Amino acid sequence: MASEALQQLILDTLDEQGTIKDTRSLVLPNQSELAASHDTQITILGALNSLLSRDMIKYESHEVFSHILSPEGAQIAKEGSHEARVWAALPAKGQGPPMTPAQLKKEVGEAIAKVGQGNAFKQKWIAKEGDGLVKAVASIKDATQLDLQEIESTGDLKSGEKVLADLRKRKLVVQRKGQWFTVHKGVNFSTSIAKPETDLTAEMLASGTWKTSTFKKYNFEAEGIPPAGGALHPLLKVREEIRNIFLEMGFAEMPTSSFVESAFWCFDALFVPQQHPARDLQDTFYISDPVKALPPEPSYYKRVSTVHEHGGYGSSGYRAPWSHEESSKLLLRTHTTASSTHMLYKLAARCRGEEVEGDEKEFTHGAKATTAHGESQDDGFRPAKLFSIDRVFRNETMDATHLAEFHQVEGVVADRGLTLADLIGFMRVFFKKMGIEQVRFKPAYNPYTEPSLEIFAFHPMLNKWVEVGNSGMFRPEMLEPMGFPKDVRVHGWGLSLERPTMIRYGINNIRTLLGHKVSIEGIENSAAVMF
Ligand code: PHE
Repeated sequence: MASEALQQLILDTLDEQGTIKDTRSLVLPNQSELAASHDTQITILGALNSLLSRDMIKYESHEVFSHILSPEGAQIAKEGSHEARVWAALPAKGQGPPMTPAQLKKEVGEAIAKVGQGNAFKQKWIAKEGDGLVKAVASIKDATQLDLQEIESTGDLKSGEKVLADLRKRKLVVQRKGQWFTVHKGVNFSTSIAKPETDLTAEMLASGTWKTSTFKKYNFEAEGIPPAGGALHPLLKVREEIRNIFLEMGFAEMPTSSFVESAFWCFDALFVPQQHPARDLQDTFYISDPVKALPPEPSYYKRVSTVHEHGGYGSSGYRAPWSHEESSKLLLRTHTTASSTHMLYKLAARCRGEEVEGDEKEFTHGAKATTAHGESQDDGFRPAKLFSIDRVFRNETMDATHLAEFHQVEGVVADRGLTLADLIGFMRVFFKKMGIEQVRFKPAYNPYTEPSLEIFAFHPMLNKWVEVGNSGMFRPEMLEPMGFPKDVRVHGWGLSLERPTMIRYGINNIRTLLGHKVSIEGIENSAAVMF
């Protein structure tokens, strides 16, 4: 029955009777539809709620338990119990030959013959005669069938709960919770269902009809419509936040578009020994075509190879043979420090006496370039604050926290007379701006920095210290071949972009963040998009 018609019926019945004590007794116009049925009560509930929202009625609900037949129960209600069907199939005693069990199976089917025989014997309805079976009584009363028929039409059984429990155990009936309702008139009771207004219009105000109109109530429980639109990937979002921290601290962004670097720029120029394990095939992806990089500027190349092989600038070097081939290999950069090295080399150009024009913006963001303090002669050095956030590649065994490519956040500061305290202080400020208040530093080793510090942050959710970055003061063996004056210090630090993002958004598998397994839907629904 349509909801509108049902609502009208409820209002008319209320008008006539004052209250409807039991909605199961509602007289439906369509006689074939039973008001007492479970489905009808559900439909009635819908109509009641709609009337309730307009305060036209009030109602109370009541629970009832009724029973319905399982498919097997329904079959028994129609065709009789297994034992009755066995009895019916057998010949009466003395009338015709007894039926063999094999014949019986054929007659009623295996399952029914098996269960039915046992029960029929128990009831003494059948008996053995020779090798066969015969009826033992002339007539039977199939109580199971009768009970099930009663349940089928009334949903209940007069003989009571004990029999019902037995039928439930035999899975012939199942219990179902039902509802019925008592209905009263509400404050806005009327027999005509006026469609409530949803909006207050200018016309209503002008004509005054707003005074008599009924308005649809606000549903404060209703969920809002999800806004349509694109979603920012959590990594992009965190990248943007970190980029803003750097910019606000006066850093300039480094160009990091070349994923392919030479071993010279990724390792040699940083004073990473040519025999260092990080340069192995297991750790680094090498390019097979083209195999070789273009050579760097010859005099710089010479200074770098010399400091490796023989030392210089106060260092004894590695005293290991230098391989030109190793240096000219092409690879996917393993850290963004390769890009920083390019930039530092460029920054030192003035110190090498090269002509440079208008490079201030490139090295500091908004901050004024200063010349050597306390020195009368300009040696060409300009302080710089640089950062980058981009992809790096490592030949890693991939698991929940490692991928072969990820993002690094890197900062580099160059100035005269910087100390380790400057580096530590800078990082405290930087991490604080990222929302990480508690940081600790641990001495570490990097081939290109000395001293080096690992950075740990306290993770309140995990309740432990986790490593968040790596840092250090770049070695003179790296800086001096570039042409920097002796008193220029450069410190830097690096961290992954993925780790703080995962910590922030409680993501414990990196593959849900990056790579081919990322689900667009997951990104759209992630907390990162909302907050
Ligand atoms: N390149 C380092 C890394 O990959 C990070 C770092 C950058 C360390 C700058 C010191 C100075 O972990």
